[in-house]
Amino acid sequence: MRNRLTILKLGGSVVTEKNKPLTPNIKAIKRLAEEIHKADFKPLIVIHGGGSYGHPLAKKHNISSGLKDYSQRFGFSETHEAMVNLNSLIIRTFLEHEIPAFSFAPSSFIITEKGRIRIFNLKTLMMALEIDLIPVLYGDVVFDNKLGFTILSGDQIAAFLAVELGARRIIMGIDVDGVYDSDPKRNPSAQLIPELSLRDLEKLIGKIGGSQAPDVTGGMMGKMLELKAAVKHGIDVLIVNGLLPDNIYKALIGEKVVGTRIRR
Ligand code: IPE
Repeated sequence: MRNRLTILKLGGSVVTEKNKPLTPNIKAIKRLAEEIHKADFKPLIVIHGGGSYGHPLAKKHNISSGLKDYSQRFGFSETHEAMVNLNSLIIRTFLEHEIPAFSFAPSSFIITEKGRIRIFNLKTLMMALEIDLIPVLYGDVVFDNKLGFTILSGDQIAAFLAVELGARRIIMGIDVDGVYDSDPKRNPSAQLIPELSLRDLEKLIGKIGGSQAPDVTGGMMGKMLELKAAVKHGIDVLIVNGLLPDNIYKALIGEKVVGTRIRR
């Protein structure tokens, strides 16, 4: 049976200054904390991306393609440490705003196989939800059965948890207003798509595939591919601009907001 559970993914381009290494977007994090507190929605799981904390280090040490050289172990740990720092900044801000946030490090309870989640232990996360804590996870480095280690995106975690826990919806806060018919950062006449069915989504995946400069976890293309699995399971997805005030608040309480709604 489907419960009310909402998974909120806050993109790295929202919680960090994407082009300045290791720089948080403090203003956005504080505002988002205010909005989440004001919405007072539960049960809720928050997942944040890596942005300028995760991606540059992951790229520098070539983590996503796996362990090829022992010297990468330091880069693996450094990338994780950067994510832990960003996560604790977010947790601290949430706690200051009276959000009962609790940090979960994906690398300590998830193992991937060639980059896909294979082994996981959701028991602790469920126990946290039972006492109305808000688990806060993040895109992380992870141990991988075949590759030794790799990068696991917050988007894959969001879709996976939504399916496993039978969530009602996933809200994605990104740095543009939603899904466009072409890349809005390159094409000024790109049109926002307010509604997508699963079939529309599948068609679009082919189209945006060629037009993105992917980050280590696949950019918008990666996002769409991950979300497809959740939409197939009947989970609603809402993609909104998390940099615009009140969007996440409105999305959480179910008020109308500009964005892209994806439904089976
Ligand atoms: C990336 O997570 C995590 C690392 C690079 C360690 P995401 O792929 O979810 O991050 P964003 O939202 O694209 O920045």
